[in-house]
Amino acid sequence: MPTPDDRPRICDYEGSQYRTEFWEGKGRDYEDRVERIALRKLLPEKGKRLLEIGAGFGRLTGEYEAFDQVVLVDYSFSQLRYAQEMYGTSGKYIYVAADAYHLPFRPGTFDAATMIRVIHHMSDVPRALGQVRKALVTNGVFVLEYANKRHAKALIRYAMGKQEWNPHTLEPVEFVELNFDYHPVYMRGALQNAGFQMKRSIPVSFFRIDAIKSRVSTDVLANLDGLLQMTGLHYTPSVFTRNVATGVSSNNLTTENLFVSPENGDELVREGDVLRCPRTGTRWAIREGIYDFKAPLDE
Ligand SMILES: C[S@@+](CC[C@H](N)C(=O)[O-])C[C@H]1O[C@@H](n2cnc3c(N)ncnc32)[C@H](O)[C@@H]1O
Repeated sequence: MPTPDDRPRICDYEGSQYRTEFWEGKGRDYEDRVERIALRKLLPEKGKRLLEIGAGFGRLTGEYEAFDQVVLVDYSFSQLRYAQEMYGTSGKYIYVAADAYHLPFRPGTFDAATMIRVIHHMSDVPRALGQVRKALVTNGVFVLEYANKRHAKALIRYAMGKQEWNPHTLEPVEFVELNFDYHPVYMRGALQNAGFQMKRSIPVSFFRIDAIKSRVSTDVLANLDGLLQMTGLHYTPSVFTRNVATGVSSNNLTTENLFVSPENGDELVREGDVLRCPRTGTRWAIREGIYDFKAPLDE
């Protein structure tokens, strides 16, 4: 088990009003629309089991309808509660409170994964990507969105001497605590090192500028963005990528026992509303239909 010092910092959304304070009625219909357009271009048509990492309140979960099962992971229990209200407890949707750096899944349990608007909160990208790779089968599809360091506004600000950090260099920039922008070349390399091959990359959100959004209708902007996404001009604030898991991994797509101990990878046994590791005795609770791997239960 990693020591507290060994754990990367987490951007904690517990109790946050992300849905109402960032999305609903907050002038971001355009961003929501263009992200869905990009996502639809990259997702497999159907599949067995999709892992949505950093699902938040489930804003995009409806896009994964064509999968037999969707597992929503988020560090915030309260965000998952919102998602649960929307998508219910039928068994198609599974809710897991867990840290993306320590996922509690049997290797090779998913044939697809998504991570949208999440990696920009992660200081340890290789570790996070490694966890996704482990959860996927060989040839599994991973749709990753990241915040682009080399976006047009940053290039202009830098050229005018109004921004200190250099958008051309490859290292990630933490412009606000736990908010990172990444260079496209850096992200391609990080994905490759983690065992992914990038198959497609789409620039998204060409018109994320208030002066434009307030003057032109969302329909027009979204349609235009959808066309511009095909140009490959990676100067937008957001980039969506489709990656395929390379190398050899186990295939546990048909298993119904998704969970292993995030501490040692051992199988867990279910005892009522508790999952227990037989070797160490460590237990994790299932609370209100949400598997809670944020912290084990006290002895
Ligand atoms: C900006 S929100 C995006 C939510 C959703 N993907 C969307 O696009 O609407 C980021 C989400 O990532 C989650 N998150 C951040 N760090 C995490 C971590 N280490 N493990 C799991 N979830 C994390 C937060 O709790 C939050 O719900």
